[in-house]
Amino acid sequence: MDKKLLTPGPLTTSMTTKEAMLHDWGSRDKKFIDLNSSIRESLVKLIDGEDNYQCVPMQGSGTFAVESMVSSLTSKDSKILILINGAYGQRMKKMCTYLNRDFIEYEVAEHEVHELSKIEELIDTNDLTHIFAVYCETTSGILNPIEEIADLAESKKISLFIDAMSAFGALPLSAKKITFDAVAASSNKCLEGVPGVGFILVKNDVIQNAKGNSHSLSLDLYDQWQAMEKNKQWRFTPPTHVLAAFNQAIKEHEKEGGVQGRHARYKKNCEIICAGMKELGFEQLLPDNLQAPIIITFKQPNDSSFNFDKFYNALSEKDFLIYPGKLTVAETFRIGCIGNLNENDMHDTIGAVKEVIQELALEIN
Ligand SMILES: Cc1ncc(COP(=O)(O)O)c(C=O)c1O
Repeated sequence: MDKKLLTPGPLTTSMTTKEAMLHDWGSRDKKFIDLNSSIRESLVKLIDGEDNYQCVPMQGSGTFAVESMVSSLTSKDSKILILINGAYGQRMKKMCTYLNRDFIEYEVAEHEVHELSKIEELIDTNDLTHIFAVYCETTSGILNPIEEIADLAESKKISLFIDAMSAFGALPLSAKKITFDAVAASSNKCLEGVPGVGFILVKNDVIQNAKGNSHSLSLDLYDQWQAMEKNKQWRFTPPTHVLAAFNQAIKEHEKEGGVQGRHARYKKNCEIICAGMKELGFEQLLPDNLQAPIIITFKQPNDSSFNFDKFYNALSEKDFLIYPGKLTVAETFRIGCIGNLNENDMHDTIGAVKEVIQELALEIN
């Protein structure tokens, strides 16, 4: 039995998703080409983007997809506002620095969301073309107010790009409800595939006008899209097995009731972890209204004998893998509640934490 992955990805996947990788696929064969087209169509449907959006998959981890979006869909003339409250906003800033894009940043603490009035002020006093936002900032697990940010960007006619890596498939994102030009995500988070491929959903006119922006051939989203439009095939070797697993995972997502169904399971998982850890004396970083049902940050106890590595190893011996903290301001650790795990797994996790507290004789309060 594999250990349970209480992490932000790679995640625990279903047996049927793993089994989908037990075949070899010819990358130029019709069967694989159809599978690839089906994935692209399903992802467009997931944002209600039929007719208006293109799905362009990109090999690699999520960062490759985000960098491909940032580099290919902006130009040297763009002026970007990056909203930062964690490592993934910081990462987009780093990308813009590498790419020599003109940007300003608005950074708030990792447990806070941005003030809309301040965003508006920045829009009004800078000649902006784009806003980059992270939907769920996985650093803390905070839920950023993407609808409000999107409405503001739309009212000011500014192009919004969303890093929805840890949100896509579990948190609402419909092109019928909010306006955005591009969103990047990957196979191995809330869609519960295996790692190895990301994707960008981009408005038709934005991708059509993206020729010549990219500094890189392999990350050139326009080139990837053009090639795939021509013959439905990948330019370079596709991650065939990853895509086969992704196709299965998407079917299982649909069967669970799509975004709504997945959200409901994760929400329940999150509630069990938050309530259980609270009862054991752990302090959650975020208030409930800012907590996304994806990953939860807990403060490390004040007990000077608390050692994260020992805590982690003791839980690992019981087959539960948690995640270190990523905050810059406090000692924390994280417990993810996504992946192919249900409420029983969450109760078992809390049971294991309780045993570890006793075994290590920890004082939590
Ligand atoms: C919000 C967000 N953006 C980007 C990434 C980067 O993805 P990867 O680690 O797959 O490159 C992650 C990974 O957890 C993430 O949570």
